[in-house]
Amino acid sequence: MKKIAILTSGGDAPGMNACIRACVRTALNKGLEVYGVDRGYKGLVEDDLFEMDSKSVCDIIQRGGTILKTARCLEFQQPETREIAANNLKKRGIEGLVVIGGDGSFTGAKALSDQCGINVVGIPGTIDNDLAYTDYTLGFDTAVNTVLWAINALRDTMTSHDRVSLIKVMGRRCGDIALYSGICGGAEYILVPEIPYDLQKVAQTIKENRENGKTASVIILAEGAGNENEIKTIISLISGSDVKITTLGHLQRGGSPTMADRMLAAKFGSRAIYLLIEGKTNRVVGIKGQNVIDLDITEALSQKKEIDKELYRMAAELC
Ligand code: F6P
Repeated sequence: MKKIAILTSGGDAPGMNACIRACVRTALNKGLEVYGVDRGYKGLVEDDLFEMDSKSVCDIIQRGGTILKTARCLEFQQPETREIAANNLKKRGIEGLVVIGGDGSFTGAKALSDQCGINVVGIPGTIDNDLAYTDYTLGFDTAVNTVLWAINALRDTMTSHDRVSLIKVMGRRCGDIALYSGICGGAEYILVPEIPYDLQKVAQTIKENRENGKTASVIILAEGAGNENEIKTIISLISGSDVKITTLGHLQRGGSPTMADRMLAAKFGSRAIYLLIEGKTNRVVGIKGQNVIDLDITEALSQKKEIDKELYRMAAELC
């Protein structure tokens, strides 16, 4: 393999830049030519590729976002569109493609490989931590730390005013951001989409806590686990508390990556390039315990992510 390309796709995640850097520098060190694709699959279809050198990735390790930009590209679900994308790679002699993104991006990579014979390697980059085959995805640690910062700040003011803070976090259908930030931020309640909860009971406990002198609480609400306005209404009604909603939104997607995410970025990027060089393609990289792993992309996509119920049980006993 002589030429490869790299793209970032789907929602951006802190650590993507550090990972692009790791891919580019490893590939150049191994004598490969490297191309960047602007705006993910959209740029691949529109032939928006440019050659990268070592300087292209200077001064980006600490930056959130992605210098390659990203986009959601629904047209990529069409076989004709994938054919165009593959031809844009083939006409330059590019034999391998690194895709940094989440499950939707991996599905696109698999289709490109199955249909057009492009050698792909996937790197999990999403704040959601919603891929079952890996313990962690790139960006998750930074996002959780951003939520922790918010919990700390909100707890200060909630305590001063004897209020309840209802903090809505991202995660799509996955409750990991809520669970990890809730545990580490000392939240009184963590509401996730994977585990049913009894809102009346939550409100009743907040009421009893108030009567026993605990006048401020933090509730972390994962995206997909309920409507914040309805939850606020019920809790206010039953407990008599003043509930304030904070939706953290896209704040969670930005910011300088943590040490953990930069280290993952380096390990994932390096492994991805070695896989391409060794001809072990149509694989994805991940981490299990302390070990970087790789496995077949189809197998990775077939695994179903589940929430860590033991962690959730433990969290309930810490409030
Ligand atoms: O997948 C990352 C994520 O931030 C999800 O947590 C969220 O549901 C979604 O992307 C938001 O997407 P967009 O930035 O397109 O609004």
